[in-house]
Amino acid sequence: MATQVDRESPEPLYRQLRKVIEEGIVAGRYEPDAPLPSSRGLALELGVSRNTVNLAYQELMAEGFVVSRPRSGLYLNDELHPGPPGSREAGPGRNPSRVDWSSRLTAALDSGLPSIEKIPDWQRYPYVFVAGQVDPSAFPTLAWARVLREALYQPHAHFSLRDGVSSDDPLLVDLLCRKILPARGIDVSPAEVLLTMGSQEGLSLLARTLLGMGHLVAVEDPGYLDARHIFVRAGAQLVPLAVDGSGVVPAGDLADIALLHLTPSHHHPTNVTLSIGRRRQLLAQAAASGTIVVEDDYDSELRYQGSPSPALKGLDEEGRVVYLGTFSKFLAPGLRLGYIVADPELIEALREDRRYDIRHPPGHVQRAMALFIESGQYQRSVRQHRGALRRKWEAMCEAIERYFDWPVPVPPGGVSIWVEGPAGLDAPLLARDLMGKGVIIERGDICFLDAAAHRHCFRLGFAATRLESVDTGVRLIAEAVADQLE
Ligand SMILES: Cc1ncc(COP(=O)(O)O)c(C=O)c1O
Repeated sequence: MATQVDRESPEPLYRQLRKVIEEGIVAGRYEPDAPLPSSRGLALELGVSRNTVNLAYQELMAEGFVVSRPRSGLYLNDELHPGPPGSREAGPGRNPSRVDWSSRLTAALDSGLPSIEKIPDWQRYPYVFVAGQVDPSAFPTLAWARVLREALYQPHAHFSLRDGVSSDDPLLVDLLCRKILPARGIDVSPAEVLLTMGSQEGLSLLARTLLGMGHLVAVEDPGYLDARHIFVRAGAQLVPLAVDGSGVVPAGDLADIALLHLTPSHHHPTNVTLSIGRRRQLLAQAAASGTIVVEDDYDSELRYQGSPSPALKGLDEEGRVVYLGTFSKFLAPGLRLGYIVADPELIEALREDRRYDIRHPPGHVQRAMALFIESGQYQRSVRQHRGALRRKWEAMCEAIERYFDWPVPVPPGGVSIWVEGPAGLDAPLLARDLMGKGVIIERGDICFLDAAAHRHCFRLGFAATRLESVDTGVRLIAEAVADQLE
């Protein structure tokens, strides 16, 4: 047994030894039918007393790892038979599984849908046009660190550290109702608000609570792919609605549609704003068919010309619109904090569901966010963030105008620019080639139900992009497009 004991360690020698032998047993390093090393031999080998080895063996016997065979010595307990020697070498991730997981895992209903591919080390690339990420240097680090700290002291510590079971931080809910939502044209009371770990969790909660097998869900096409996954996983069937420069195009009616998922402020992924006429038309259709409308309002305040459009929820007189808000785009997605606004009855059902899932988002983050809003820092941060994004958006527009030789209409908001490339362009291939030049773009085809017909589309996220890299990055993209089409 090649092992060492650490004489400097505060842990008694016999315990160290016991641990090493136990690990060896679990890893299958001992022959099942051969005696374990004798206490005398082991003591000599390790330079410890026999007593130390005997104590270690006694503990292992008491716990059933080792049995004593009269006049023969100590052996592994047969009941713990670890398999053929060497078959279970220890080491991270090296234990071969004995469970046939493929026969145990329930089949995911969304296995036919493509997935958004994320490049894990995107931040190492010089020209980053990824979507859904932010520039850490734009985050209000000091102010956030201050509120995180403050949230751990009285009178806040209780709310930061308690098990809230199914409840949320009352201060944050109150501030959302008084300071955040009215600016979006939404006037609600605390019973109409539930905190989430981001809009994505909001969508999952809604899907679990409202959808069942075969339910029809109308989605924007192109639209948010992860939302489609969530609905299909809940058993729903998707009904695509086309999108043009005024947002989603209402179909004849919404008969039989259980749920309609919309991104009215800045359509995902094109960023166009849903016109007021269509908003009213969709609400009237939803009322006629009993459809629930989910307003996924993930980045409405990030508008660079004119003022943000009021939320669809503000027009809702029937409690039919469920509003999803998030702090992901104004601050950072890693905070994982968002909220749902809906009728109290639905909020209660969602709360119950959330309780058996995550219970509630971390209390510490909730209280810190409450203090962030209460101190006025939230509004200051949103203004600064919007200012920084506006500069990037302007640089993007200029570079696109300069280098792309086909028209790209750019709506005045959002954190990405949607590009319909020239006919014949293969954007997934373009994205792959560009990575070799240090440029990351997002393919756009998978935002459509019929991806194959839209391979010429791509998206340029700019929230995580460095301002100085915009011009060169866009030029490299334009050159790669030209190369491919040549
Ligand atoms: C349309 C849309 N909805 C929801 C989300 C998820 O946001 P969150 O980070 O709040 O979960 C995103 C993320 O990019 C999104 O684009």
